[in-house]
Amino acid sequence: MKNPFYFRALPTDAPFCDRKKELDGLFSHARNRANVVIFSPRRYGKTSLVKRIQEKLKDLDFLTIYVDLFGVDSIEDMAGRIASRFYSYCHKDENIFKKAMKFLSLWRPVIRPDSEYGVSLSVETTRATRGIELLEETFSGFGKFIQEHGKGVHIVFDEFQEISELNESLQLEGLLRSHIQTHSNASYFFVGSRRRVLRDMFNEKKRPFYRSSINYPLGPLPIDESINFIMEQFKRGGKICPMEIAQKIVEKTGAYPYYIQRMPYSIFEISGKEVTEKDYIKGFTNTIEEESIIFEAMIQGLSLQQTKLVSALAHEPTGKPYSIEYLARHSLGSIGGVQGALKRLLELDYIEKRDNLYILVDPVFGNWLIRLTQSHLE
Ligand SMILES: Nc1ncnc2c1ncn2[C@@H]1O[C@H](COP(=O)(O)OP(=O)(O)OP(=O)(O)O)[C@@H](O)[C@H]1O
Ligand SMILES: [Mg+2]
Repeated sequence: MKNPFYFRALPTDAPFCDRKKELDGLFSHARNRANVVIFSPRRYGKTSLVKRIQEKLKDLDFLTIYVDLFGVDSIEDMAGRIASRFYSYCHKDENIFKKAMKFLSLWRPVIRPDSEYGVSLSVETTRATRGIELLEETFSGFGKFIQEHGKGVHIVFDEFQEISELNESLQLEGLLRSHIQTHSNASYFFVGSRRRVLRDMFNEKKRPFYRSSINYPLGPLPIDESINFIMEQFKRGGKICPMEIAQKIVEKTGAYPYYIQRMPYSIFEISGKEVTEKDYIKGFTNTIEEESIIFEAMIQGLSLQQTKLVSALAHEPTGKPYSIEYLARHSLGSIGGVQGALKRLLELDYIEKRDNLYILVDPVFGNWLIRLTQSHLE
């Protein structure tokens, strides 16, 4: 029987656990042409959620555009991504496509045959305009299109925090804000992980996006629904998962959306008709091992002190990482160093403060760190 659990991009018709309140609320904001900033830790289901909302909006005849800003490395790159996504969404309808070309004359769509997808669409500039000016013209053309289009337009900028890495980020934020606020027939969703970076961008008084959008933090999944979801999917795959095991998976992962698929996936692979405690333990170990490349990449960019601190917090969450006892117990060095490390780990969203304790955001990463130090001791 095929494994019923998904842990890569979730198709919009795949089974989805809960998020009813979020789907309704966000759908309503989009219909009201409100702008929303959606933030959560990595792999919480933001992209899956907004894609579902765009599917629903299409039924209302909205033009929906999804732009992924992951790895964006320049203003030209960003403007090009917007133009190319825009043309790809328009090209199915000749009238809309013509209208798009009229307003976005700075960009020429280039359609080529493609062995995999039939055709591929890319864009080229028609003039030598570059930098901020290029983005300015792109947005202003886009704004005119939105106004004339009449029907609603919904735009998702996924991985939006990436723009803060660009040199001209503040200027860029100012430009986006000034255009977006005039696009009264459109709703923008700014989506991203790195919660601190996004929160600061939208909630600091001196930043251009200050109070421009509704803050929408996305939490983990509800416990009971997650347990039911896991049992249900096993059933769909022709196997039985006892409730105690589904409960353990949810407890162990803190109902972290990615892991309620990832861990059952590994368990499904090794289990017989009925999942046993042994399958659960082995499945969990396999998950950690198979995820270790990601975890290794996560600590690779950290300094020694940051690695020590994140590992200390995995072993022992604390509200007082600067206390003499804590520093000594985990050999963390100076208070100043720990302050810097704590700030960086919060910025990266590797840790968060919950119920007055600093803890790891990803509990499976925490488990991996603990196993890592244990195996060093062996
Ligand atoms: N409501 C849900 N029901 C079932 N599975 C979910 C749900 N939400 C998320 N997932 C699982 O989590 C995975 C990650 O989801 P998604 O890529 O949408 O998260 P994300 O928050 O956009 O992640 P990133 O921050 O890395 O971009 C999905 O492939 C799916 O396996
Ligand atoms: Mg995503």
